[in-house]
Amino acid sequence: MRLVPASLFGRTLLVLGVGLLLAEFATVLINVLDRGSSVYRLASQQVAMRIAEAAKVLNRVPTDERGDVLEEFNSRDLRIVLSAKPIVVPQGPEELDPYERAFATTVQRDLGAPWRTDVEITARLRSVRPSPSDTEASTRLGQWLARNFYFLLPDTFTMVTQIGLQDGTTAVFYARVPQEPLRRLATLVPRLFLTLLIFFALAGLVVRTMTLPLARLARAADALGADPEGPPLRASGPREVRSVIDAFNRMQSQVRGYLVERARMLSAISHDLKTPVTRMRLRAEMLADPALRAKFVRDLDEMEAMVGATLEFFRSLGNEPRRQPIDVRALIESLCEDWRESGHDTSVQGTARVPYSAHPQALRRCLNNLIENALRYGERADVTIEDDGRTLRVSVRDQGPGIPAAELERVFEPFFRLETSRNRGSGGAGLGLSIARNIARWHGGEVTLRNAPEGRGLIAELVLPRPPEASKA
Ligand SMILES: Nc1ncnc2c1ncn2[C@@H]1O[C@H](COP(=O)(O)OP(=O)(O)OP(=O)(O)O)[C@@H](O)[C@H]1O
Ligand SMILES: [Mg+2]
Repeated sequence: MRLVPASLFGRTLLVLGVGLLLAEFATVLINVLDRGSSVYRLASQQVAMRIAEAAKVLNRVPTDERGDVLEEFNSRDLRIVLSAKPIVVPQGPEELDPYERAFATTVQRDLGAPWRTDVEITARLRSVRPSPSDTEASTRLGQWLARNFYFLLPDTFTMVTQIGLQDGTTAVFYARVPQEPLRRLATLVPRLFLTLLIFFALAGLVVRTMTLPLARLARAADALGADPEGPPLRASGPREVRSVIDAFNRMQSQVRGYLVERARMLSAISHDLKTPVTRMRLRAEMLADPALRAKFVRDLDEMEAMVGATLEFFRSLGNEPRRQPIDVRALIESLCEDWRESGHDTSVQGTARVPYSAHPQALRRCLNNLIENALRYGERADVTIEDDGRTLRVSVRDQGPGIPAAELERVFEPFFRLETSRNRGSGGAGLGLSIARNIARWHGGEVTLRNAPEGRGLIAELVLPRPPEASKA
């Protein structure tokens, strides 16, 4: 399982969400500590007042009446015990933490007399009779918690105040300062939930509007590979994204310009070669030596065929009408029918689910080149059409010798022909496969060759992806 989401959308939301939670947490903490200590101060003042009052009364009444006074003052939050000796306090007064010190000062002020007063916040109830274990008090962590968070956890800790009465008796007060701020935490959870909800709704909306144009841009970049003729992207979204889209559109039109220019230049050269070739042919006719003449004519034929094929090649790249839906099965059947009429063996299997959107002449040329190769080098052509709704596959299988594995890619190079087919009588210019592959790529697809796994023959496969909107049909 991955912890960080892959999409920009997810990441942005995650970062913002975590940031919000942290900020919210810090606010709560500050709030609780601040409010907590002030609530504590208020509450503790009342407790201090009661303790001082009780001490003054105890000091005043005779020893045998003190029991009644104790009963009167004892309550759930305050327990008073009288002790002959002071109980041991583990740390000196200089170590008193701010709460303890403040509390001792308040008690002292309310007493109005300089009686000895010790205050300690402790993790457990201290026994009235001093014992060695009492001096060890609680752990360091417990002490730290008690000193800094007493007001948050008054049930866990007790505030012990010792006041020395004038007759030498020590009055020990176990007090619990009422707790307030923790209750506020309960309302915090729904509030936090609400904040997060609103935040995610808004942030989600904002981030979406930022990432949608990017996703569209990515799809357009894909489509550019398949069809440089595609319409430019509509610029939308924030300014940064819009400028990327603009740059992308400029790039697309430049690429298109280069492609067109390259095709035009090369086809112009090929075209212009025709005239000198024709002139040379005329001159060759004038050669006296018939054997030499025949050789010249054969070379010129070859040149002419190459020029013709080159022109054909560039026609396959451009000057095509826009894509239109094509019944692939019908197209292949008509091609095979033509070949059958000239005495070749062909068969067609399978069909396409829905018409495929393609440049009609180009697709026809591409398929015909593959079938022609199968018939020329492999005796027969068996065509299979497969369509899973997302990709269209047309494979052409023959019964020939196949192609050595090392050459399977090289035969796609323009003018590359295998040694065995060097003889011009048995082949063409070596452009058929280049043209077929070019056309396939023009449609976002690919042509591949492989030797049949069992027995003889080569399988040429044309794979054509269906554009996303067409695959839903
Ligand atoms: N089905 C096949 N079986 C065996 N070899 C093949 C097959 N198809 C192509 N080849 C080899 O690949 C080479 C290149 O094929 P390609 O179609 O590009 O050119 P070509 O058929 O020679 O000429 P063109 O198609 O331009 O008339 C061929 O010359 C041939 O040697
Ligand atoms: Mg060929």
